[in-house]
Amino acid sequence: MKKQTLERFFKPRSIAIVGASKNPIKIGHAALKNILVSDYTCKLYPVNPNEEEILGLKCYPCLTSIPGPIDLVVISVPANLVAGILRDCVEKKVKYVIIISSGFGEIGNHAGEEELKNIIKGTGIRILGPNTMGYKNPSDSLDCSFVFGMPRKGELALISQSGALGMGMIYLANNEFVGLSKIIGVGNKIDIDDDDLIDYFADDPNTKVIGLYIESVKDGRAFMNSVKACDKPILVVKAGRSKAGARATASHTGSMAGSDELYSAAIKQAGGIRCRDLVELFDMAKALAGQPPAKGNRVGIITNGGGLGILLTDACEENGLSVPKLSEKTFNKIKKILPNLITPNNPVDLVADAGFYRYYASTLALLEDPNIDGIIVASVHAGYARPQEYVGAILKMVHEQKLHHEYEKPILGCWVGGREFEDLVLDLKAVGVPIYPSSWRCARAMMALYLEGERIKRERKNKKQKKTRLQRG
Ligand code: COA
Repeated sequence: MKKQTLERFFKPRSIAIVGASKNPIKIGHAALKNILVSDYTCKLYPVNPNEEEILGLKCYPCLTSIPGPIDLVVISVPANLVAGILRDCVEKKVKYVIIISSGFGEIGNHAGEEELKNIIKGTGIRILGPNTMGYKNPSDSLDCSFVFGMPRKGELALISQSGALGMGMIYLANNEFVGLSKIIGVGNKIDIDDDDLIDYFADDPNTKVIGLYIESVKDGRAFMNSVKACDKPILVVKAGRSKAGARATASHTGSMAGSDELYSAAIKQAGGIRCRDLVELFDMAKALAGQPPAKGNRVGIITNGGGLGILLTDACEENGLSVPKLSEKTFNKIKKILPNLITPNNPVDLVADAGFYRYYASTLALLEDPNIDGIIVASVHAGYARPQEYVGAILKMVHEQKLHHEYEKPILGCWVGGREFEDLVLDLKAVGVPIYPSSWRCARAMMALYLEGERIKRERKNKKQKKTRLQRG
């Protein structure tokens, strides 16, 4: 039977929670409550043989006693009861099942997982988990997890093999003002896998960037094909790089980490971007969601501190970007706005007392320069610096960039400073302007924009070649 698409999985018309409980400290209670308080309309059925009603909803003794059809079943009972409930799901012709229960492959109970796979064989049922937190769907305001807190709405879809890390990522995303379209814990991945989700998010109009935390990939070929076929940037944090990390992977989800070099090469070849850690994933996601991709690797750097300019230049060069000399035209434009003693260069040093106009005019000069593909605007909170004017200039340039699509160049901020800066940076983050407190992080985010630009070029070239081949018959 053909695999069901995941459309109804994320937008079910009816949900049953098996193991729903009145006890507020139980996972089955939180799972029910999260759906109930979601701003989402669907039929909701708690299932528990010992209760008549839970949280004001009529409770059913078993799935087969529920009168209407059920799109999605969430299972939160001990592992030894899961197979029996899955058989009820088959009888009830349920479409999707989320198995929260632990106690399977992660503790060596592979036979238990095989039993579940056999039960659904040929039925078309799709399973998420076991050993999963479920998912949160901010795009449609549905919380189908037992974890507290809804992320803000946005365009990053996150797929996590670790439930706890997934929960942490929700808070990290909120802190960084990064909105999510979905966040999903895949757990032991006995059925719904990373490739299924990448395929789904590739077509999801609410998702612009896809991020994954993975410890292992079950079907390498399917994963590669999905990454390759996806026309959106894909960021991958792959854990278990070291020998000890690989050992920890085996005891976390019961899976093998595999050769790290192989993963790096495969992700790169398929067009994904490998991130060193979650902070880097969010750094890059912010840039990719908020800025246009860079059409080339030539970066213009503007700074009020020479040292920060050099650090950024080194970080750019180390990450495959170049910091070219300014063209004569741009040189002359910037010379006009700088004090006489300074000669413009790239990095463009606006010197310590740079205010709004110097930042604004030099960024504009680089936007207009066809030899520059991306711009980093940096500020050091030095004695004469005016952080408010720096932030104001970036806001104005990003706004103008949006108004005047002809530039289509990414602008990133980078800063070194204290409390006064931190408050202002929040203003930028709140409107989605990517800004980083580290030259390395900023350069890596620019690298992601460059790699995305290259991926798009390759994609267009492939499409063109395919079209020509088709026309030739
Ligand atoms: N159908 C429906 N409900 C049933 C049932 C059945 N056949 N059999 C028992 N229940 C009820 C229980 O009576 C209980 O309700 P109650 O509180 O009213 O008594 C409820 O289902 C839950 O069963 P219980 O035995 O109390 O289990 P639990 O809530 O302590 O633990 C899990 C269940 C799934 C949470 C636990 O086994 C587990 O796996 N925890 C880890 C989950 C996890 O971390 N997942 C990964 C996240 S990243």
